[in-house]
Amino acid sequence: MIPVTKPYLPDRKTLDKYLDGIYERQWLTNNGQLVQELTKRLEEYLGVENLLLVANGTLALQIAYRALGVSGHDFESQPEAITTPFTFIATASSLKWDGVQPVFADIDPNTWCINPEHIKKAITPNTRAIVPVHVFGNACDVEAIDEIASRHGLKVIYDASHAFAVKYKGESLLKHGDAATLSFHATKLFHTGEGGAIIFKRKEDLERAKRMINFGIIGPESIEELGINAKMNELQAAMGLAMLPHLNDILEIRSERAVWYSENLDSCVTRQLCTVDKNNNAYYPILFDSEEKAVLALESLKEHDISCRRYFYPSLESLPFLSEKMRNMTKSDNISKRILCLPIYPELDKKTIQLVSRTISEICHA
Ligand SMILES: Cc1ncc(COP(=O)(O)O)c(C=O)c1O
Repeated sequence: MIPVTKPYLPDRKTLDKYLDGIYERQWLTNNGQLVQELTKRLEEYLGVENLLLVANGTLALQIAYRALGVSGHDFESQPEAITTPFTFIATASSLKWDGVQPVFADIDPNTWCINPEHIKKAITPNTRAIVPVHVFGNACDVEAIDEIASRHGLKVIYDASHAFAVKYKGESLLKHGDAATLSFHATKLFHTGEGGAIIFKRKEDLERAKRMINFGIIGPESIEELGINAKMNELQAAMGLAMLPHLNDILEIRSERAVWYSENLDSCVTRQLCTVDKNNNAYYPILFDSEEKAVLALESLKEHDISCRRYFYPSLESLPFLSEKMRNMTKSDNISKRILCLPIYPELDKKTIQLVSRTISEICHA
């Protein structure tokens, strides 16, 4: 079966070198040498400061909410955060889980990112934050979102789980917002098996978050505040360190696969309007002109032993446990019904891409 994605496994020799060090030091977690090294190397690679490694991308979001005062306080009324319905469930469920009501604002039908005009309409006296998603690594309208946030005194936490190594106007996209979060789940472009990171704008927020991810402990006999366990461990960091040197090659190979798709895919399917300097090709989403065709393509490709995913489907406003007030998210609902993510990973060969493209073409013109 051709999977929609495949975790990249770095060569064992490099990984073993890091594992040997763990065995020698007998230090497995709690801000060990490898976590410190990976923090430094990632800051250099991504061109950012104030990066904090954590156990996964969902905790990255939740720690960012807490560190920035969006959650965890005794507010008089329930805090709200404005977010997109066109994303992975964790963006919205992490808010709800932490007592913050997600309020959805519809997306732009071309970039598939949250539409700033809809953010403005969703603001209430209880709004504390905006949680936009750089969906499939495409940049949100960061300038407009910044402007809205500063006018209304709101925090901005970008869920940048898909935006590893993405540049916007010559700089890391991760520099935008009060914080940006990454997921290093096994299926991500860069991964540590499970893992994640937060990039804070301000050092003081980083320092608060550092305490929070270690139960609020600041010394052997000193617990300063409420915290939780969200630490990355040394085994996760070893995987990341072994993988990082291959990243530029991975990006190049993925880009080549994306070009093969664009050379072979029929013009009956459309693509996301790119707003970044260069997409990282972590995903290859396409849009059909109807839900029926998207589902047919999924089934036909399955018959060829090729997996695709209806990613992101369903649009999150349709989940009753997330929001009681049902709002119509016409654009997100429409796009999530017609979308399909095609397989993309470094070992994927040209023949498979041609077969996928031919199958899609046949469905479009049936
Ligand atoms: C947009 C988005 N946000 C959050 C997450 C959650 O990250 P993790 O699986 O590392 O907890 C993911 C993971 O797939 C994601 O795609």
